[in-house]
Amino acid sequence: MVLIAPSLLAANPACLGDEVKQLENAGADLLHFDVMDGHFVPNMTYGPFILRKLKKITHMPFDVHLMVDNPEKIIPWFIEAGADIITFHLEATSQPDELLKTIQNAGIKAGVSLKPNSNMKIISQLNRTPDLVLVMGVEPGFGGQTFRPDTPQRIVQTKQLCPSALIEVDGGINQKTAQLCIDAGAEILVAGTAVFENGSYKKNILSIKGDAQ
Ligand code: DX5
Ligand code: ZN
Repeated sequence: MVLIAPSLLAANPACLGDEVKQLENAGADLLHFDVMDGHFVPNMTYGPFILRKLKKITHMPFDVHLMVDNPEKIIPWFIEAGADIITFHLEATSQPDELLKTIQNAGIKAGVSLKPNSNMKIISQLNRTPDLVLVMGVEPGFGGQTFRPDTPQRIVQTKQLCPSALIEVDGGINQKTAQLCIDAGAEILVAGTAVFENGSYKKNILSIKGDAQ
């Protein structure tokens, strides 16, 4: 069964705590926490202080997606704040193996992310194996973008290059594109707009999972 990770980027930032509670009651499997620095991507969000506070009000695991340059500087902050998965972009660092080691040695899952135009072969050049590969369905930086049609094919290629890693897909996921990703082998789907639009988070999560009646 595919897991759904709602992206807090699409939540109402004026009441994040209530949004997290509602997502938990709606059956979200984990929470996707997008961290942006205004350099690696042209947008900014939140940091470990917010994560530490939200962690206290939910049992859901936090799936931290770092869209920042030089993530080595801030990874220890997110480990300390209670992240359960930390994913960084391979283009953002010159020391991916060291970062994977730091995250895994903290007892949490380590992920690497591939943008739509990333050279996928770089994951097979890593010396350490990531626990997860996050395949972007859009250019990182903003919610509400259109799913890139070559994403399912990139999911299949990623699984071939890194067969032991969980495959997570992020960006442009809705009921229809979710099914394409599941068929291609995705195990975790991030969804922002498709979870938060039109009212019922529970109905939206079930519909993305393909369980809607
Ligand atoms: C984009 C973020 C995504 C984003 C997804 O850079 O990494 O997590 O919130 O939003 P939707 O589901 O609206 O494409
Ligand atoms: Zn994300």
